Amino acid sequence: MEPLDKLFEAAKRMQAQAYAPYSGFKVGAALTTPDGAVFAGCNVENAAYPVGTCAEAAAIAAMVAAGGRRIAAILVLGDGAALVTPCGACRQRIREFAGPDTLIHAAGPDGLRRSFSLDALLPFAFGPDNLVA
Ligand code: THU
Repeated sequence: MEPLDKLFEAAKRMQAQAYAPYSGFKVGAALTTPDGAVFAGCNVENAAYPVGTCAEAAAIAAMVAAGGRRIAAILVLGDGAALVTPCGACRQRIREFAGPDTLIHAAGPDGLRRSFSLDALLPFAFGPDNLVA
């Protein structure tokens, strides 16, 4: 299977697991590391609304828990006509483990819709480099 298809399938499986009783908007995210490992996650909402977490955060947490520290590419999948791109906070979460050229793929239920570089979605980003003296 092509790497992008792998990410799409993993994100789609995750979307089905999402816990989104409040928004009804289920999201799946899947990322690959440079060695080809795939990690995926879904959004998990909460009755205390701000405590809910995004699918991207779950995928990144799974990567880190397995020892991964680098995102080679990430795909986000959601329903609806509008393009689903990572929220602002998740762009920053991705930044921690990615470079300006890292691809962020936005998919709908039927497949890939658009791809962006991280730099296009989060220009002039603050990141780990800023904290190096
Ligand atoms: N959501 C994500 O999981 N990822 C995104 O990139 C956009 C939004 C979730 C958060 C919330 O559970 C629901 O979608 C509606 O905002």
